[in-house]
Amino acid sequence: MAADDSKSTFPHFATEAIHVGQEPEQWKSMAVIPPISNATTYKQFAPNEHAGFEYSRSGNPTRNCLEKCIAALEGGKHGFCFSSGLAATNTITSLLTAGDHIISMDDLYGGTNRYFRKCAGKLGIETSFVDCTNIDSVQKAVTPKTKMIWLETPTNPTMKLVDIAAVVKVARAAESKIIVVVDNTFMSSYFQRPLELGADMSMHSLSKYMNGHSDVIMGAAVVSDDELANKMRFLQNAIGSVPSPFDCYLVNRGLKTLHVRMKEHMKNGLAVAKFLEASPRVVKVNHPGLPSHPQFDLGKRQMKGYSGMVTFFIKGGLEQSRTFLQSLKIFTLAESLGGFESLCELPSLQTHASVPPEQRVELGISDSLIRLSVGIEDLEDIIADIDQALKIAVSKM
Ligand SMILES: Cc1ncc(COP(=O)(O)O)c(C=O)c1O
Repeated sequence: MAADDSKSTFPHFATEAIHVGQEPEQWKSMAVIPPISNATTYKQFAPNEHAGFEYSRSGNPTRNCLEKCIAALEGGKHGFCFSSGLAATNTITSLLTAGDHIISMDDLYGGTNRYFRKCAGKLGIETSFVDCTNIDSVQKAVTPKTKMIWLETPTNPTMKLVDIAAVVKVARAAESKIIVVVDNTFMSSYFQRPLELGADMSMHSLSKYMNGHSDVIMGAAVVSDDELANKMRFLQNAIGSVPSPFDCYLVNRGLKTLHVRMKEHMKNGLAVAKFLEASPRVVKVNHPGLPSHPQFDLGKRQMKGYSGMVTFFIKGGLEQSRTFLQSLKIFTLAESLGGFESLCELPSLQTHASVPPEQRVELGISDSLIRLSVGIEDLEDIIADIDQALKIAVSKM
């Protein structure tokens, strides 16, 4: 048995995050916090007659609490957790068969790009990488073989926005049944709910904002359609990329403060974006909350706020980027994002190194594009750190 598939029962986000799936009455002990259930198997009353759990890959009580909570936070009905975000991507893609076609956003997490090209491609599933910010391009890429559209918005790392509802419209008008999947990792369920915009599936690398403490690798998918849920439940068990009960316990705990953390990430991220935009040492800042962002209005319509993700082009090239990143004291030079601590990285050499060089050039992922995951430390300290590192990196102004 997987998640109990119940729709959320509380009117507001924080109450759902704290209570959905956590009912003490589900345990004989009436534990207020879901226990970590490590058993791999469960006693049955008679052959194939059990109390809801058979074997821990197909369903686990601690995972069940987390899956219910995530489904509620995404405004969906069924939640599924996986051993990583890429394990979620692999399982979702397994809904397709050889000969099927995926339309993927061109600017997306490098590992997803690599998975589609090097793994799904080998299985006969072809992917077209398309600029989905242009709805005409999405429309033109649809073929009778198209079975999935995979979006990331804001895109990673150039922070473009994709109009989810408009892409869903294209998918619904197509001859074949197209599953629209949105990777919601950058926004978290708190700021963006793709299912409410018509998408069929919302997926996450829970390793980022949802857990928020940089100590778990995990992924999730949420759907509302019962038939799609049955297929996902089958694949989750058949492929078997499930997370450990201990990690489920940690992510479940992380979700309890998601709303508090996201408000701080938004405040700090926006302030950093504004500071960078005013700096003569910076060429351009990408943040959907800046009025200079070309899709500022779409962002206001589609999202309820902004995360702590900011990318910018530093004046100069690789030398200035390197010096800046190595001069920061509060920001840690490390891949990943969405934890309470500030992180920084150079996509061209780190997170997006697996994207083919010609595609990187086309997308503008140059050696002067820096990505910041702004944490929830004191804002004054964050700004002072960026200021001193910029002055060292781009000294002659
Ligand atoms: C937007 C996005 N999606 C998916 C993934 C993959 O998730 P994981 O690292 O949990 O496998 C990442 C990882 O960085 C990501 O940033």
